[in-house]
Amino acid sequence: MKGLVLAGGAGTRLRPLTATSAKQLVPVANKPILYYGLEDLAEAGIVEVGIIVGDTEDEIRKAVGDGSTWGLSVTFLRQERPLGLAHCVVVAQDFLGQDDFVMYLGDNLLRRGVRDFVAAFEEERAAARAVGAEGPAAQILLAHVPDPQRFGVAELSPSGEVVRLVEKPTNPPSDLALVGVYLFDARIHEAVDAIRPSPRGELEITDAIQWLIEQGYPVRSQVVAGYWKDLGERSAMLEGNRLVLEGIEPAVLGEVDDESRIEGRVVIEDGAKVVRSVVRGPAIIGRRTVVEDSFVGPFTSISDDCLVVRSEVEHSVVMASCQIVDIARLTDSLIGREVIVARTDVRPRSVRLMLGDHSRVDLA
Ligand code: TTP
Repeated sequence: MKGLVLAGGAGTRLRPLTATSAKQLVPVANKPILYYGLEDLAEAGIVEVGIIVGDTEDEIRKAVGDGSTWGLSVTFLRQERPLGLAHCVVVAQDFLGQDDFVMYLGDNLLRRGVRDFVAAFEEERAAARAVGAEGPAAQILLAHVPDPQRFGVAELSPSGEVVRLVEKPTNPPSDLALVGVYLFDARIHEAVDAIRPSPRGELEITDAIQWLIEQGYPVRSQVVAGYWKDLGERSAMLEGNRLVLEGIEPAVLGEVDDESRIEGRVVIEDGAKVVRSVVRGPAIIGRRTVVEDSFVGPFTSISDDCLVVRSEVEHSVVMASCQIVDIARLTDSLIGREVIVARTDVRPRSVRLMLGDHSRVDLA
């Protein structure tokens, strides 16, 4: 069994962050999203992993290296343009050969990993082979969601077989959304070659799976245990950060002075300094970050080398090397690297901005 991780794409919903860097490298609890997926694959016993990369190839290569950190052997596969999830399978055809594989969207987060999911597929395939049959061609992972209109949705038969998949349906046949982790055998290559681009110009993985169903190839499904998040946009990113922080192991490796208070699940990473401040968990303060005369509230991740002075930050993700100075209250924010948010006494008193394309500012 091989792994195929999708880390290309356009990331339009996370602009402007994705104008300068890969969405899959946005940190959740101070760790790139992509690493969670790689950990899940390693935990499932997978070693050979192909990573689909696009314009952010260099950055992804740098962050992943050869994969040995996770005991993986990684091959980078360049997709010239983001032509769809099923197109990624086309790009990976040589790498995958005739092997079964797990396809994992690089911006998805699963609480329970994929080990059980992979084991169930392998067992069923092995049992089928033992009697000279082919077994299931695919296994999809589903999650109950309140807003199925926004997702690929599965319709199941009373016995639990997948009978139909529909992309972003106006009248969803169920509340079961397709999670961004799929298991396939080599028959998926026939499927991706047979389908045509959708009206939005992409080769859709839902169409490929639907094609398998129409050929009479069995497609299994399983509903996820624990949470699942597709971190494609800001609120989902903050929610994913909250969910991971809720399970974080508290540890104080940096310095906390006597006038500070650390409450609840908090990680203060090595070299960080907390001075005359309150950090209320769940929260994480990155390496060499200084928090002074401030409050860092629940569900907040501050990355490495930041400065938070005379400010209050809550329910936010702040990436590396930022400065937040004299900001009475900053909430629900996702802040890229090397950003300065500061109050000054310079006249005329006004809001002065220097923002990239597609930025967003909400003023009180
Ligand atoms: P999506 O979130 O569906 O697409 P996107 O990343 O282009 O984002 P947006 O809709 O905001 O423009 O992609 C899911 C994952 O798959 C993500 O990690 C990017 C990756 N991907 C590819 O590698 N190649 C592709 O052609 C597409 C569409 C996505």
